[in-house]
Amino acid sequence: MSYSSPATVPCVMKIAGTGSYVPERVLTNADLEALVDTSNEWIVSRTGIKERRIAAPGEATSHMATNAAQRAIEAAGITAEDIDLIIVATISPDTFFPSTACHVQRNLGAIRAVAFDISAACAGFLFAMQIARHFINSGNRQTALIIGADKLSGITNWNDRNTCVLFGDGAGAAILTAKNPDDHDPSGLLSSIMASDGRLTDILSVPGGGSAIPITPENASLRLNTIHMMGKEVFKAAVKHTLEACDAAIERAGLTAADISMIVPHQANIRIVDAIRERLGLPPERAFLNLHKYGNTSGAAIAIALDEAVRSGAVKKGDNILLVAFGAGFAWAASVIRW
Ligand code: ACO
Repeated sequence: MSYSSPATVPCVMKIAGTGSYVPERVLTNADLEALVDTSNEWIVSRTGIKERRIAAPGEATSHMATNAAQRAIEAAGITAEDIDLIIVATISPDTFFPSTACHVQRNLGAIRAVAFDISAACAGFLFAMQIARHFINSGNRQTALIIGADKLSGITNWNDRNTCVLFGDGAGAAILTAKNPDDHDPSGLLSSIMASDGRLTDILSVPGGGSAIPITPENASLRLNTIHMMGKEVFKAAVKHTLEACDAAIERAGLTAADISMIVPHQANIRIVDAIRERLGLPPERAFLNLHKYGNTSGAAIAIALDEAVRSGAVKKGDNILLVAFGAGFAWAASVIRW
């Protein structure tokens, strides 16, 4: 894969605050043993996941997104009325329309913002960051709220052990602001890679419920409105593409792997994270992990991990952070941020 030519415009955007939210209900591997033919040992050894959070009945994606956004707004020290752009990355929107972003806009009272959703599955939060970066760099918008939020429990087939052990619910958010050209703050987005390969649409999808296969009682009974995945193919594509994207993002930032203080990767599978980290020659403590607690929360995963890394002190001022994600599409992205 060759990536488009590097941006020559210096980045004038920084992350002013982060926030996250996960539902209260914990679903453990032991709970899943009672649902399908699986074991804690299989799940932990193949994925690293020990438990995940499940949204309460009636708790929509926009509810989780709004909670995460409120925490990011507070961390950034701004008000909802300062926000002029809201992008929600989700594959489990509240409704086909209006967008989940508009629900969030209403909940927050962010009356000055333009709000819309994007669909790039687990890479969605990094896609949103790069879209917001272009709005801010062009001077079109000054203060963006980007959110990754997913309620995968609603599109999971709880009878399918190949998929139901992997996913969870949650939301993460960040406030991106234009930098004042007079302050020589070195923090910001140093480089970005985003890519997709539509030849791989079939390896991970929710085939039914859209315009191609509208939902009927018959195909609902076949669970066509739930996640279908060819696990090994996804695994192979994830490792191949994310390794290339990491190399390109690090190079484009003018750094080497040794300069990366922390990888904040998509939280899908410990073996994929280890493959990326080992290839970059970084020790285990330089990869931030929370997949053991939350499983794969799709668009929310990197956003929640970034917020937890910041709040726990795992990421410090001046650190170079590598963010990397992959998901259905196939779509993938990597960014280097100086914190
Ligand atoms: N418990 C017990 N056995 C299971 C389970 C389970 N939960 N799930 C599958 N198995 C069985 C299969 O039936 C198969 O059995 P068989 O060989 O008799 O047919 C066997 O385990 C497969 O085992 P492995 O080959 O060891 O599985 P693998 O190492 O490929 O791990 C996994 C499977 C974890 C799904 C892996 O392929 C993976 O992580 N893939 C990437 C998935 C991913 O990241 N998806 C999210 C993308 S993000 C998005 O866009 C939503």
